[in-house]
Amino acid sequence: MKLAVKLARAPTGCAGRRPDPLEPPVPETVFERPQIGLADSYRSLIKEFEENGEELVPFPLTFPNEDFEAFLKRLEASSRGEGIPEGWVPHTTYWLVQDGVVVAVSNLRHSLTDALRREGGHIGYGVRPSARRRGLATEILKRTLGEARELGLNEVLITCGSTNAGSIRAILNNGGEFLSEEFLPERGEIVKRYRINLGTDTT
Ligand SMILES: CC(C)(COP(=O)(O)OP(=O)(O)OC[C@H]1O[C@@H](n2cnc3c(N)ncnc32)[C@H](O)[C@@H]1OP(=O)(O)O)[C@@H](O)C(=O)NCCC(=O)NCCS
Repeated sequence: MKLAVKLARAPTGCAGRRPDPLEPPVPETVFERPQIGLADSYRSLIKEFEENGEELVPFPLTFPNEDFEAFLKRLEASSRGEGIPEGWVPHTTYWLVQDGVVVAVSNLRHSLTDALRREGGHIGYGVRPSARRRGLATEILKRTLGEARELGLNEVLITCGSTNAGSIRAILNNGGEFLSEEFLPERGEIVKRYRINLGTDTT
């Protein structure tokens, strides 16, 4: 599945103005499942996280990928709920790609456990450090919410560190409603929980 979208940019002039030849073109943004052709780009995204000393989020970024075909097979199996550890739920990974560069990764858990209700929620996402503050977290979350809707979920839970301003904004941009917050000693931080209604409940 490949879906190309043009990211909306704030209008910079009056309607009908001619495009400024000095303005960079808006890159085509594709939301897709991981694929072999962009293995090197995906690895370079992980390298940027590591060079920044950041935790690898979402968690599939931690999966070994030296054998990329095996890595892709693992992701496909995880999406079908096969070969996942005890206590885990089926989950699907998506990429946002701009001009052949993997710029963001998201992961959608198909259901929740008590542990995930406390921390983890349905959706995690991470944006390549050099591509941040360009609306990509907001965009990949929006596209992943579309997948959650396709899966039949009526609402999703998203959890987020209370100091993660960018993630909180991306959640709010997508209609997130604050539910609760709690200090989690194992993380040493307050985690906020948000609900996003997907409007699929017809009862
Ligand atoms: C958090 C993260 C996903 C944000 O990605 P991003 O692509 O920069 O986010 P966006 O460009 O969509 O920004 C969304 C909003 O947050 C704001 N924002 C982004 N980063 C911010 C920061 N560090 N401080 C303050 N505001 C920030 C943006 O200006 C934007 O504001 P607006 O909607 O009012 O215009 C990214 O920093 C990241 O990958 N962090 C590491 C992994 C992570 O924390 N994932 C989330 C787990 S809950």
